[in-house]
Amino acid sequence: MTRSSPASATDNLRRWWADAVGYQVYVRSFADSDNDGVGDLGGVLAKLDYLARLGVDFVWITPFYPTPGDDWGYDVADYCDVDPLFGDLATLDRLVAAARERDIRIVTDLVPNHTSSSHRWFQAALGNSGAADRERFRDYYIWRDPAPDGGPPNNWVGYFGGPAWTLEPESGQYYLHLFLPSQPDLNWRNPAVAGEWDDILRFWLDRDVAGFRVDVAGGLVKDAGLRSNPQLLPIPPRASRWEQWDCFEHLYDVFQPESQDVFRRWRKICDEYGAFLHGETYHLDPRGMDDLLPPDGMHGGYWFAPMHIDWEPAAIRRTLRGPSSALAGRLLWAMSSHDMPRAPTRFAPGSDARAHDDGWGAARTLAFNVLAAFLPGTLVLYQGEELGLADGEVAAEDKLDPVGPDDDVGAGRDGCRTPMPWGDGPHNGFSAAEPWLRSAARPAGETAAAQSQDERSWLGAYRALLDVQQRARPALSNGTAGGNGAVEWTDRGSGEVISYRRGRLAVAANVGDTACEVPLEDGATLLYDSATACRHPGADPSGASTQDAADGVHLLPPASAAVWQI
Ligand code: NOJ
Repeated sequence: MTRSSPASATDNLRRWWADAVGYQVYVRSFADSDNDGVGDLGGVLAKLDYLARLGVDFVWITPFYPTPGDDWGYDVADYCDVDPLFGDLATLDRLVAAARERDIRIVTDLVPNHTSSSHRWFQAALGNSGAADRERFRDYYIWRDPAPDGGPPNNWVGYFGGPAWTLEPESGQYYLHLFLPSQPDLNWRNPAVAGEWDDILRFWLDRDVAGFRVDVAGGLVKDAGLRSNPQLLPIPPRASRWEQWDCFEHLYDVFQPESQDVFRRWRKICDEYGAFLHGETYHLDPRGMDDLLPPDGMHGGYWFAPMHIDWEPAAIRRTLRGPSSALAGRLLWAMSSHDMPRAPTRFAPGSDARAHDDGWGAARTLAFNVLAAFLPGTLVLYQGEELGLADGEVAAEDKLDPVGPDDDVGAGRDGCRTPMPWGDGPHNGFSAAEPWLRSAARPAGETAAAQSQDERSWLGAYRALLDVQQRARPALSNGTAGGNGAVEWTDRGSGEVISYRRGRLAVAANVGDTACEVPLEDGATLLYDSATACRHPGADPSGASTQDAADGVHLLPPASAAVWQI
């Protein structure tokens, strides 16, 4: 195993993730190499050439550690191994090495807020491995006596609905879990927990993993006194999990400043290896992002606001411009993930995304990705985004994801997690076996095989975008080491065209519903036009360019974006 160059040698250079493009692999649904119906690390290995051709710099793989699978891998039973369902450590090593040969880095998922209840630490804390272990591990988790009425110690609710506390009948104490009862929260106020995690980070970094996405990075340390949160509203009967969560002001359960001490410590470790430490920083308020990303904390964090907007010019502009310039270069831009409906579904006009959309949801998603791709920071595509995929169709009886009060699978995240459509044949070429999550077959035109043959497919358009973005990096940073190429917004701050300049590049998108003309700068060279890069629903079907240099204008159809060198 090779070790990446230490930060002392690289500190003064541009960090490798600046202006890089990442790709999220939801491992269960990406590619199945052993035909058991579940995607695995061998499947990722087999698709590296596809990822290299797409042009991504790193791949974030969702958890592949031993797990009972209650939260599909986010309930980890051993942080330093691979679940046999997904492969083994030798496959992971092969994958990391084969990716490096293609200039792709592998980034893994750390899940430090909670373990699985099957983890040996929690089993020990329950007393299942003897009294001495119970003594040692009990305080790895958060236990409290019941409230005077016998109920939970405070009023915290879980992200998946219901109380955040479960009673352990043997001891008569409650333990805390911000997610499922089988995901007990670690006690980050116990220094022994932090010590364990230093070893976990080094275990993976020594295997040449290039960085970590930190799950629930707003969690970890809890209020020392575990005070109840102020309640804003009574919880309505049959409230969804989000409605339950929103009934409280979350002063004491999440976003505690002490969590930053953990990230400062991890930052030092990651800097030794030149690794990229970034978090699931789920805060929709830009000021909250500043708190979650102090300069000496994680290198970066996901900015989730774009996943929560409608296709509406003011909202798009706000999410792009919102975060403070202090965070420039430190945000990860992602439009979709394994937790949210895919962007083409969210952005589809009308109520029935698949039946009436005609590609508008995918066109809007591409236009947003063009805007984000040239801003400081790191663009991350979710698997299948490059194929323009809307959510897969999962019949009510096949739904699996139990988030929501009373294990409400209807509230779950299955639609964005259906298997990747690689080609024709059973299960769209994902696996010879029935996939773990059953869904309707995708039409041939949505598969990677068909789109690979067609330059003006969504895949062709994303390949071209990533190619342009990669070539443009020197022009973005003005070619200087560590240069960030500040953004100058060139639109009016309102209206349907959003545009900016960065370095020697100009980017403009039409986020309205009718075509708009944008004035061309003198000598501007068109590098990319999403309306002609694919069969855009609003463009000339012949694919002819709509730039008229003589008139000094470029016509942007609705939901399209273009990039120029100036
Ligand atoms: C965020 C992950 O992305 C999600 O899938 C998971 O359920 C929760 N964190 C809990 O780990």
